[in-house]
Amino acid sequence: QIERSLVIVKPDGYRRGLTGEVLRRIEAKGYTLVALKVETADKARLAQHYAEHEGKPFYEPLVDFMSSGPATFVVIEGQDCIKGFRSLAGATNPTEAAPGSIRGDLGRDWGLAVQQNIVHGSDSTESAEREIGIWFPQG
Ligand code: CMP
Repeated sequence: QIERSLVIVKPDGYRRGLTGEVLRRIEAKGYTLVALKVETADKARLAQHYAEHEGKPFYEPLVDFMSSGPATFVVIEGQDCIKGFRSLAGATNPTEAAPGSIRGDLGRDWGLAVQQNIVHGSDSTESAEREIGIWFPQG
């Protein structure tokens, strides 16, 4: 079915100049860009976005990292694009992510408290709807 997913090119991807490369891969795959903005995320919205990780050891470093500079927030659309983008992104741990994926080709472990893994993609239709509502509240 036609789905929408929230993709974030995280601050590490932004700083490394990989935003265009990630968008290129999304478009080359055949997904459509529906909305896009560059913004330094505020911690209140990040707390909503990462509510499920509250209390985990990487939660605070994660919120600090995600608010450390500009990131690009993108709504993408296409047939099964939630699963499809997660496949494009590769495994969460960039050391283990398969070559050919965004994290496998462009990411590595930097030995930091949080995995700086270039991109985020929603993991279900419920998460996608919730996350799009957080970052694009005007609809
Ligand atoms: P994402 O899936 O976008 O959302 C949660 C983020 O937390 C994840 O990307 C990583 O950046 C980070 N993360 C997840 N698991 C770990 C972990 N075990 N150690 C450090 N960071 C993690």
